[in-house]
Amino acid sequence: MGRERRRLLVANWKMHFVRAQALEYLKIFTERVRNINKTELVLAPPFTLLETVGRELQKTQIKLAAQNLFYERQGAFTGEISPLMLKDLGCHYVIVGHSERRRLFGETDEIINKKLRAALDAEIAPILCVGETLEERRAGRTQQVLEVQIRGALHTPSPPSGRGSPPPLREGLGERSEDLVIAYEPVWAIGTGVNAEPHEAEANALFIRELLAQLFSAEIAQKIRILYGGSVNPANFEGFLRQPNIDGALVGGASLDPEAFAQLAQMAERLSELS
Ligand code: PGA
Repeated sequence: MGRERRRLLVANWKMHFVRAQALEYLKIFTERVRNINKTELVLAPPFTLLETVGRELQKTQIKLAAQNLFYERQGAFTGEISPLMLKDLGCHYVIVGHSERRRLFGETDEIINKKLRAALDAEIAPILCVGETLEERRAGRTQQVLEVQIRGALHTPSPPSGRGSPPPLREGLGERSEDLVIAYEPVWAIGTGVNAEPHEAEANALFIRELLAQLFSAEIAQKIRILYGGSVNPANFEGFLRQPNIDGALVGGASLDPEAFAQLAQMAERLSELS
């Protein structure tokens, strides 16, 4: 039986590169991945590079993502970027709730829920990041943390009082729930060079999928892609790729090197050709 979900590989450039560097990167990367069509490839540059990178990517199969968004469509929100602006630049995806945003910029599950909804409303697919800290892991609380983060991010806000009970979650996200991507990123593995063991990441990805089946339906849960993120590199990626519930990766450090990121893409493609 073929694999149902298309593999997805996302480069999170974080706060790196100016235009000349991005163009140099693209020259190398686009050439190296020209043959890739089974695996979906996505680049998430900083806001300032979305237009430059987006224009180059139009000539390719590679898609564009933003690293963040604000949840209002427009208005007096100095310094923020709206979903409409991202849509205008051709973003297919947006990363929501990355642990760096939770930790350094105070993003709560409530804010993340608003961002997720705003992205879906603008027809931009959200890549929702969840993951436990080292302390939470040591305390054996990983799955509890994942459940709180996912339920919080997907929660449908209650209607104003007097209008009955809140609508079920499925109605809140509607048919677009399949556009959702979840990135399981243990905080202790991000940028540390210490990756999770593939079987441990798989167990948590399976837990997430079972939770999604409860929140949506078994059918939708089977369609939602779950990525692993945290110190992915060409030496450890295959272990993750071979897990049945892991559909690709969100890559930080290794995605800054176009050769290394292209290597990850080729690895995913080879496996997809086999299955
Ligand atoms: P890393 O970052 O690959 O450098 O660990 C992953 C991420 O933050 O998405």
